[in-house]
Amino acid sequence: MNVPFVNLAAQYLSLEEEILAAIQDVGRSGGYILGEKLESFEKDLASYLGVKHAIGVANGSDALFLTLKVLGIGPGDEVITAPNSFIATGWVIAATGATPVFADVAEDMNLDPRKAEQAVTRATKAIIPVHLTGRPAPMMELNALAEEKNLLVVEDAAQAIGASYRGKKVGSLGRAAGFSLHPLKNLGVMGDGGIIATDDSNLADTLRKFRNHGLKSRDECEFWGFNSRLDPIHAVVASIKLKHLDRWNERTNEIANRYRKGLQSLVQVPEDKPYEYCVYHNFVIRTEARNGLMAFLEKEGVQNRVHYPIPIHLQQAAAYLGYKSGDFPNAEQYANTMISLPIYPELTDEQVDFVIKKIGEYLK
Ligand SMILES: Cc1ncc(COP(=O)(O)O)c(C=O)c1O
Repeated sequence: MNVPFVNLAAQYLSLEEEILAAIQDVGRSGGYILGEKLESFEKDLASYLGVKHAIGVANGSDALFLTLKVLGIGPGDEVITAPNSFIATGWVIAATGATPVFADVAEDMNLDPRKAEQAVTRATKAIIPVHLTGRPAPMMELNALAEEKNLLVVEDAAQAIGASYRGKKVGSLGRAAGFSLHPLKNLGVMGDGGIIATDDSNLADTLRKFRNHGLKSRDECEFWGFNSRLDPIHAVVASIKLKHLDRWNERTNEIANRYRKGLQSLVQVPEDKPYEYCVYHNFVIRTEARNGLMAFLEKEGVQNRVHYPIPIHLQQAAAYLGYKSGDFPNAEQYANTMISLPIYPELTDEQVDFVIKKIGEYLK
């Protein structure tokens, strides 16, 4: 049996007719930038997330970067985030001219509020909690910290669309949030895409101009901006997929439960907290036997990955920040022991059982 790590074409094929018709519709409409198809998706997504505004941008990194810029983050400011995220979480801070400051993560691989608190200085302006692997970060504690220290909270919800925390969807828990519509994400388009979510109407209004050159009308530029818009061709694909997202996330949870049951006596598995609904963009197990197990699984036809083998603070790009190995023991230990197993709605129970069996074979 073969268990590919992803199978993006399977999802496309299940919706092919509808997607092709929608793309044809865009083609025939002649409206290829901004316009009503994008607006319609933005409205549907805002309502799905339970926020007032969703703003389509070119990718999830821009969603975070543009938001930080409009919130006034820049040189001299510090922004606290987790070191075990995708590198974009780090570079978007640096790209504003601010300094990325990392704090260690807890057992759930999300920012540890006590560690975040210790990282606060007079220069700290914002926190970016990352809902890593589709599991919500501890927003109650992080929001309390932000309130006490007067910090902005911008959620990195790139991996967590549809997840919820204490009854609210992620993306509605901070001042604003960035989502990625990258093909690998739980709501993925056929290229790059991103969304900013916010309840703040002034922020949304500025961001809509900021993503479009700073234009307030066809010919009038209010401030220098960027060209970072979600294309209607992606918006229509996302609209179609949004209708299936909850069902897909439910299936993903079934798979996570099956893995959990089959593996909990063998390796460290993620455990949901009672007040969170996780969407498992990645299902990450941890074991000291990681390297051998990865190679064995690969040989047996089970593709696997590590998200992420080098924490951001140890990346060459971050060397100027002066961090060293040992600074964030949890993040570093997880980087050395974790494996992401295949998880996507199209995976069959037989494939999941095969993965469990092969892990058992190696570890026993
Ligand atoms: C946690 C996290 N943040 C930010 C991003 C950036 O999103 P994008 O690739 O759409 O720019 C990603 C995904 O790639 C991500 O996983």
